[in-house]
Amino acid sequence: MSMTDIKKGLAGVVADYTAVSKVNPETNSLLYRGYPVQELASTQPFEAVAFLLWNGELPTDVELAQLRALERDYRVLPADVRAAIDLVPLDAHPMDEVRTAVSLIGARDLAGSGSVLDASGNPAENLARSIRLFAVLPAIVAYGQRRRRGEQPIEPRNDLDYSANFLWMTFGEESDDVVVDAFNRSMVLYAEHSFNASTFTARVIASTLSDLYSAVVGAIGALKGPLHGGANEAVLHIFDEIRDARNVSPWLDKALAEKRKIMGFGHRVYKRGDSRVPTMKAALDTLVEHYDRPDVASLYSELESEFVARKGIYPNLDYPSGPAYNLMGFDTLTFTPLFVAARVTGWTAHIMEQLASNALIRPLSEYNGPDERHIEGYVPDA
Ligand code: ACO
Repeated sequence: MSMTDIKKGLAGVVADYTAVSKVNPETNSLLYRGYPVQELASTQPFEAVAFLLWNGELPTDVELAQLRALERDYRVLPADVRAAIDLVPLDAHPMDEVRTAVSLIGARDLAGSGSVLDASGNPAENLARSIRLFAVLPAIVAYGQRRRRGEQPIEPRNDLDYSANFLWMTFGEESDDVVVDAFNRSMVLYAEHSFNASTFTARVIASTLSDLYSAVVGAIGALKGPLHGGANEAVLHIFDEIRDARNVSPWLDKALAEKRKIMGFGHRVYKRGDSRVPTMKAALDTLVEHYDRPDVASLYSELESEFVARKGIYPNLDYPSGPAYNLMGFDTLTFTPLFVAARVTGWTAHIMEQLASNALIRPLSEYNGPDERHIEGYVPDA
């Protein structure tokens, strides 16, 4: 028996410094570059938060206008990316579609760039790549939902900013301000969360001096899992199963007896509630009122209070965002791709931070396989 102190799941391990965000479970707070996320979600467009994550400061009016102009330049779905998406089976998970699209964008962008030794790029190149991914992902996600519905893609509208245009490209109609605001808040809240599994994946890949696109593709793979980003989709499956607030108690009896994980609850870092939930819940409340769906609010509250009372485990961001995206009209399968569109800002900020003071990420393991043994008849080379 080894005496090595194994940190299963790297729980409690501090792997590096970061100046991008600070999660403090004791005070239930999350700061992006020093700003509380609640303040950013209530006052800033997502584009300004992306700028903050990449550059460390909120943009001036001129800087925001410049970023918005660049975002408009790259928000069109390129024909070859659309063709690549069309090759993905319609019944594949949309995260596979998003991963494929980003992979192609990376391959095309880096074509002819020479040896792997040049892959990691310089800071200016990586910022430009980050902006391009941030700008094109809405078109990829919106087209994914449309093609599953048998609909054609919709051209972006340059008179609309990021969030309003994202909704326009998805639904083909202008959304009310209350919906645009709730959507913008969700993007800000999902943008960044320190060394979560997908961000750490991106940093591991970047630490080998691979390229930014490869790191983002790996992060998308990590985010797909239901213990991470996939949970927002899973919350809606649970809501669909329960259907009515009156069914919560018997449904929970059965689910807990079967030792099911209740998606949208629990967090590796926050043990007394996720700092992002109140802001997203407030956005959900505005949508409940806008769409006149009190049934959604009562199912939400009933499941939350019953589960918290029984297990003492609190909701995470995916719990309010799942029903919010549903009310906005997004298909359940589109929820995790929406998370990608938001988190790509945090991932790329971390990739650039990793490269700025890089050390190859390579932990150790404690071997617990069979003792040394040998192939019968093997004769060592002389
Ligand atoms: N439902 C039921 N039981 C739970 C849940 C849950 N959602 N979350 C934790 N528990 C229980 C576990 O079964 C375990 O019980 P045990 O000690 O009796 O075995 C105990 O609480 C500790 O749980 P772990 O899974 O070991 O805690 P960990 O910190 O590793 O997990 C995680 C955190 C993965 C998020 C977990 O809470 C979970 O699976 N939640 C559901 C998935 C989810 O919502 N993920 C979204 C994460 S946030 C985000 O990506 C925005």
